[in-house]
Amino acid sequence: MSQIEDPRLTALKEMRKLAESGGGAARIDRQHAKGRMTARERLAELLDTDSFHEVQPFTVAHPDEEDAILGDGVVTGYGTIDGRKVLVYAQDFTVYGGSVSLAHARKIVQVQEMALHNGFPIIGLLDSGGARIQEGVMSLQGYGEVFRHNALTSGVVPQISVILGPCAGGASYSPALTDFVVMTDKSSMMFITGPDVVKSVTGEEIDHEGLGGARVHASISGVAHFVGEDEAHALALVRQLLTYLPPNNVTAAPTVAPSDDPSRTASALDKLIPEAPNEPYDMYDVILAVMDRGSWFEVQASWAQNAIVGFARLNGRAIGVVAQQPLVLAGAIDIDASDKIARFVRFCDAFNLPLITLADSPGFLPGVGQEHSGIIRHGAKIIYAYVEATVPKISIVTRKGYGGAYIVMGSKSLGADVHLAWPTAEIAVMGPDGAVSVLNRRELAEAEDPEALRAELVARYREIHATPYYSARRGVLDNVIEPARTRPELIAALETLQEQTRSVPPKKHGLMPV
Ligand code: HXC
Repeated sequence: MSQIEDPRLTALKEMRKLAESGGGAARIDRQHAKGRMTARERLAELLDTDSFHEVQPFTVAHPDEEDAILGDGVVTGYGTIDGRKVLVYAQDFTVYGGSVSLAHARKIVQVQEMALHNGFPIIGLLDSGGARIQEGVMSLQGYGEVFRHNALTSGVVPQISVILGPCAGGASYSPALTDFVVMTDKSSMMFITGPDVVKSVTGEEIDHEGLGGARVHASISGVAHFVGEDEAHALALVRQLLTYLPPNNVTAAPTVAPSDDPSRTASALDKLIPEAPNEPYDMYDVILAVMDRGSWFEVQASWAQNAIVGFARLNGRAIGVVAQQPLVLAGAIDIDASDKIARFVRFCDAFNLPLITLADSPGFLPGVGQEHSGIIRHGAKIIYAYVEATVPKISIVTRKGYGGAYIVMGSKSLGADVHLAWPTAEIAVMGPDGAVSVLNRRELAEAEDPEALRAELVARYREIHATPYYSARRGVLDNVIEPARTRPELIAALETLQEQTRSVPPKKHGLMPV
């Protein structure tokens, strides 16, 4: 038997080695010098060991060009994360700056189609100089095809974008169409027009980081959902996120073996709500006490912090949590909080994650800026999202539930399956002060001691209206529960509501107020 390898096998190995060398050693060194990994290193970090299978490693944009670099600047294929199948693409900055030709785009489209048709999540690792300048309109055609598949895939399988370098111009619209955007701190940037164009058009001077760095998008614009301290952390966040998500919209959200006692009570919650109605408390104390220990995974933690959204588990079952944070703007709902809540509710509904709502809001945020920027239009999104949601919906009013803010936060009128309150809940058309000002304006104006009269009227209003029993007696609440028993109550409700048969009326699609 000859020991000489079949030359065809040798040729394959050489081709593969060439493809895997990307833009060559010098460019790989430059990439490393920026603190960034190569596309293949990133995939190795993201996926289970040795699970990656590449497709189209030898594709080039122009097969006649002798020096064309194999792969055309994007590595695509499939692999597993914690044993669960995912489709992936990773732009390779060492090849033409990761810029997008038609061939590059079509490689991405191929894995998008594989994700869509086979029902597995797709993760894109973006690091690109944008449209390949030499390709002209054919690059734009390619981008458009990627966007089209982002939109078609939306709501069928989870789509996650990880921004690990530049992502500028129209290119930003692909991640914007996906469900989650992860960025790396001080190493990634996203903007529609860069600092130079901004300066020439508006005169504003700002650097890349200040215009579209990770912190900006995580805390000001709301474009980014998670920020990794570095690339490895960003990719670890993706792995963690996937543990809460089903692979597609026709599969139940994943469950894990319960790690926490389902009947565990939390006595601290019985004393959490301060006596004084305007004294705040921390809603994270509620979330952490109620959910399975160690399961809380917050989304958009730094943006619109008056609202809290995130994933958790209850007795091992993945759920979505929506809450107010009384420590920020007293939990009032503003435009950004509306967008944050509505988007998250729709995501949970699309991917079969039951919704737990912890409501405590004094109302929508007053202000000329809010009104003129369309708080009416934005706030309406929350209603739309909750009503459309067919997943199990359980809501608890912990303290304030006033006016429209009460209705929108997953109330029974919007279709909550189980609507509960703590004994500290105050549910009414408006807060006592506002109500007394409207109802008793004349008496107060004529009173000898208006302040004393106001205090008396407020106390009387509070006794009648600002309690959960006014609502419970009228069947609007399903029950009033001891705060300490919130966890077992939620788990019991959730386990009763597993199978949902509710559906929305047939239509082409609704007209969500965007
Ligand atoms: C072709 C590109 C490229 C591009 C970078 N390269 N961007 N090639 N088309 N868009 C190539 C460079 O020529 C270089 O090739 C290699 O990639 C690395 O680029 P450098 O400039 O050396 O890297 P760096 O200094 O890190 O700067 C990165 C950068 C810069 C900031 C991204 O390259 C840049 O400004 N590129 C152009 C960005 C841009 O204007 N793109 C078009 C945006 S409009 P060599 O051979 O030297 O390694 C757009 C519209 C999309 O994208 C619309 C979609 C709807």
